[in-house]
Amino acid sequence: MLSDQTIAILGIGNMGRALLGGLMHGHDVDPAQVRVTRRNTAALDALAAEFPGIVTTTDNTEAARGADIVILAVKPQTVSTVIDDIREDLASETLVISILAGITTEALREALGQDVPVVRAMPNTPALVDEGATALAGGRYAEDVHVGRARAIFEAVGTVEVLPEDMMDAVTGLSGSGPAYVYMIIEALTDGGVKQGLPRPQALRLAAQTVFGAAKLVLDTGRHPAILRDEVTTPGGTAIAAVANLEDHGLRTMLINAVATATARSAELSRLNHK
Ligand SMILES: NC(=O)c1ccc[n+]([C@@H]2O[C@H](COP(=O)([O-])OP(=O)(O)OC[C@H]3O[C@@H](n4cnc5c(N)ncnc54)[C@H](OP(=O)(O)O)[C@@H]3O)[C@@H](O)[C@H]2O)c1
Repeated sequence: MLSDQTIAILGIGNMGRALLGGLMHGHDVDPAQVRVTRRNTAALDALAAEFPGIVTTTDNTEAARGADIVILAVKPQTVSTVIDDIREDLASETLVISILAGITTEALREALGQDVPVVRAMPNTPALVDEGATALAGGRYAEDVHVGRARAIFEAVGTVEVLPEDMMDAVTGLSGSGPAYVYMIIEALTDGGVKQGLPRPQALRLAAQTVFGAAKLVLDTGRHPAILRDEVTTPGGTAIAAVANLEDHGLRTMLINAVATATARSAELSRLNHK
């Protein structure tokens, strides 16, 4: 699906680097088909050494010219500069994929000044270790083939859900921001272990692996988390005593409200971006 595509990643920072790694390791993509940009030339040289054959340049115009797919991976506050760089030379059939938080496909299409297909993606940082959760939404001119190409790119760094664009704020509140909540849970579980006398390094590894393993069991078995939880809670045992404590302190409500708060903030930031 991507083997005949020339791909430009504009703004190759953390997320762009994760996508480049996925393209190089998870696909039949010739490195010469991939162009990446950022302003820091030393960082570009390091990328060229790590991925021999890719084209590295500080010139967004040159990178985007003739590319089949252009991935916008800069920060939202920088995107207007990059769009100015590429607008004139972008072919109308170029697929533009944006990972910019809070910027709609329509806003990008308008800024680009032509009816190009735009696919919006909301990945998360576990994409850096190929365990990302990405949601995709196709814009007005994006057809199945375009969403399919975007899916292929993000599936190399994790799982993909295709959703309507008006759900992107909720995605930002759940999986986009979610790693932050889970890190807090891992940190707190670690402290819990340390409080009970476990050495910190072992407590951290046990906590992180417990979160990872529990998540893997949900995904691999497809079983409802409540059923899996029931299986851990022996009558009169340790886990049910702790579960009762968590219920008492409103863990579920806290997490539901966390997603709601982040979703509302994402919507607020999107409105600011579109002013
Ligand atoms: N991190 C997340 O959890 C996450 C999740 C979902 C979506 N996103 C989105 O992903 C995007 C990138 O995030 P990130 O964490 O990867 O940021 P990042 O590491 O700062 O990457 C952005 C890169 O853009 C480059 N850049 C800045 N100005 C440029 C220009 N004029 N031309 C070309 N490159 C330029 C910067 O490098 P130089 O300074 O060398 O130019 C930098 O490496 C953001 O829009 C964010 O909303 C991030």
